[in-house]
Amino acid sequence: MKQYGYFDDDVREFVITDPATPWPWINYLGCEDFFSLVSNTAGGYCFCKDAKFRRILRYRYNGVPMDSGGRYYYIKDGDSVWNPGWKPCKTPLDRYECRHGMGYTRIIGEKGGLRCEVLFFVPQGGRCEVHRVRLTNTGAAVKRVQLWSFVEWCLWNASTDMENFQRNLSTGEVEVGDRILYHKTEYRERRDHYAFFGVNRPFDGFDTDRETFLGPYNGFDTPQQVFAGTSDNSVAHGWSPVASHRFDLTLEAGKSEELIFVLGYVENPPEAKFSALGIINKAPAEELLEAFGTPAKADAAFAALKGYWDGLLGRFQLESAVPELDRTVNIWNQYQCMVTFFMSRSASYFESGIGRGMGFRDSNQDLAGIVHLIPDRARQRILDIAATQFPDGGCYHQYQPLTKRGNHDIGGGFGDDPLWLIFGTVAYIKETGDFSILEEKVPFDNQPGTEKTLLEHLKISFARVADNLGPHGLPLIGRADWNDCLNLNCFSDNPDESFQTTENKTEGSRAESLMIAGLFVAEGKDFAELLSQPAVSADPAYVDEVREAVSRMETAVKQHGWDGEWFLRAYDYYGRKIGSSENAESKIFIESQGWCGMARIGADEGLCDKALDAASKYLECEYGLVLNAPAFSSYIKDYGEISSYPQGYKENGGIFCHNNPWVIIAEAMAGRADDAWRHYCKISPAFAKDQSLRKVEPYVFCQMVAGAEAAHPGEGKNSWLTGTAAWTWKTVSEFILGIKPQYDGLLVEPCIPQHIGSYRVRRRFREAEYDLTIRLTGKGGSFRIPYRPGFQALEIEL
Ligand code: GLC
Ligand code: GLC
Repeated sequence: MKQYGYFDDDVREFVITDPATPWPWINYLGCEDFFSLVSNTAGGYCFCKDAKFRRILRYRYNGVPMDSGGRYYYIKDGDSVWNPGWKPCKTPLDRYECRHGMGYTRIIGEKGGLRCEVLFFVPQGGRCEVHRVRLTNTGAAVKRVQLWSFVEWCLWNASTDMENFQRNLSTGEVEVGDRILYHKTEYRERRDHYAFFGVNRPFDGFDTDRETFLGPYNGFDTPQQVFAGTSDNSVAHGWSPVASHRFDLTLEAGKSEELIFVLGYVENPPEAKFSALGIINKAPAEELLEAFGTPAKADAAFAALKGYWDGLLGRFQLESAVPELDRTVNIWNQYQCMVTFFMSRSASYFESGIGRGMGFRDSNQDLAGIVHLIPDRARQRILDIAATQFPDGGCYHQYQPLTKRGNHDIGGGFGDDPLWLIFGTVAYIKETGDFSILEEKVPFDNQPGTEKTLLEHLKISFARVADNLGPHGLPLIGRADWNDCLNLNCFSDNPDESFQTTENKTEGSRAESLMIAGLFVAEGKDFAELLSQPAVSADPAYVDEVREAVSRMETAVKQHGWDGEWFLRAYDYYGRKIGSSENAESKIFIESQGWCGMARIGADEGLCDKALDAASKYLECEYGLVLNAPAFSSYIKDYGEISSYPQGYKENGGIFCHNNPWVIIAEAMAGRADDAWRHYCKISPAFAKDQSLRKVEPYVFCQMVAGAEAAHPGEGKNSWLTGTAAWTWKTVSEFILGIKPQYDGLLVEPCIPQHIGSYRVRRRFREAEYDLTIRLTGKGGSFRIPYRPGFQALEIEL
């Protein structure tokens, strides 16, 4: 089994030792509004605030060779030309190592007695990437070497940058300073922002025109200037602007040279855009370079970043007998939750950053992964999301991070969306105790004058689902529910239309969703509990109404949603069952087992246990639980996109990891620790043995792993940006380790196999800090810790 790297938990890094990973293994930099994607060979791009509208570096999706474009450093040492990250030249290195850490990536390449180490990070409070490049002559003789930097600019809008060449090839503009190369395309007109690539000392040459640097018809692997040992000092006018600095260096034996590059983004106020006609105001760029442009300053910024992450991750730390579990909980799961919160589903190596912004349901679910880390940002996110709701309780399915406005192309009409606002808000208040958020005034569809309190938004969300029931008293599905691909009102036979946006037939629809039914019951109970808190003082008659609606739904599910061995998935447009033993294919689906199980519908009658047994029996394979089985073998117009995928992939029989935690939580709620643990380990990357098979990063969860019916079961895809991160966090922290935030304190209620023995959790909770040692004695039960600020160490036997 070929391995490409290993975990170095002491420093919270994953170390890649072979650059030719089966797929680029990336990391994210930035935690405010400047973000970068950086692969193990320094590929990727950065943007400020919005991956579509403020793209700084150009990136070619699905390029050949894979992962082309990034921040490349070229070294010419005699006849040898190489890159510390191996790509793009792919010259064999004597040594290569890439360390992806919390908000930084360090790449080290060594060849012929020369070592080049590049540390990439986005400092806090700076809209820039810092590249700290250190060259060391490890040999015994003096070396004369040359170093080139290289990035290619994107003309801001990542979408039109890839399309509108009749314009783009004429608009590119740059300016050149003695240390900084500026990219100012469209700054002459409506933009008040530019980008720059600077370095902390004067360079020996530069290029800003791509073809001049690379040579026409050359790739990034054969830049003609580098091979010739020159720069042309080219100034780009149109075509494709780039930035490359050249340095001619002499390195004494055993000595190092360090250069600090800053790749940044600047916004100027309209009145201070120019310093002279057509000349950009460069002061902010110079300041930014100045701020990080000495080793001492770069050190300090890097130390501050490390301190930030240490502080954050320190809020929940586990010591157990299972290193894979500790690693996941203490490092990578929390880290992935942060990244997913920042990016939603916009920018990854599977999401282009131009298609989707922030998802309504996605971002609400992401909150569950970060409320304990960055509660203030969670608060703001909830208010932003709520402002994209319509007065009738529906909501935009997605919104754009730059404008925070709903996305008209996709619109609304997804039956489950409104309920997630309750989910996100409850998670936030349970963690923080901040009931004041319910009183915040939030507009509808961002229209001034339409403001109502967040609590009113929640009521309208609840009513939206409660009042839109089908013939069986179950929630109408609309365009789709959580499963974007179960399109029961779509009936598309035109390959040129998108399942996501095409007009739906709603007249006469009877399509209902058991997934939403379960979600409604679970969130309805949560909502009633919230309303009953003394701080909320809701009208008791209204709380009763909520409870009654929930109880009617439970009855409806038991009457019309039970198939005998498991919960049905849906009723289609014509009122026919989906996910039933009566169906020829896809007799059982995961979502309704998870949600009805979490809602504990029919638990007393044994329905939850049966449904969970069925999930294990029919959906479980070596790598996790598949979404549906048997997968659809052909396209079914009445069901839509779900049946468009080949068997075993994505929503058609893939292990859609996002929904595995629902079953795991339901298992935990049913007290079935061994089943919960087994399912958890299967989808957790830290337990996966075969890096080649999994293909994508071994340190993060995937949206999807190919299922049992796939051609290549076990192959991971769509890594990083997935609801799996927040849901596995909730699962492991609250349901397996059993540390559950409540309005009035913590409830300790683990569901973990006996053999794990005891474990210790140190957890910050509001103004309290708990040091909990939990000993599993087999007696079970739970332990309540009323909230009180300050430090408490407790030993708990359960
Ligand atoms: C993707 C979407 C999410 C959806 C899921 C299932 O992960 O981001 O909104 O629920 O797919 O279709
Ligand atoms: C596709 C994907 C689904 C995703 C949706 C988002 O349908 O299969 O996972 O949620 O696109 O637009």
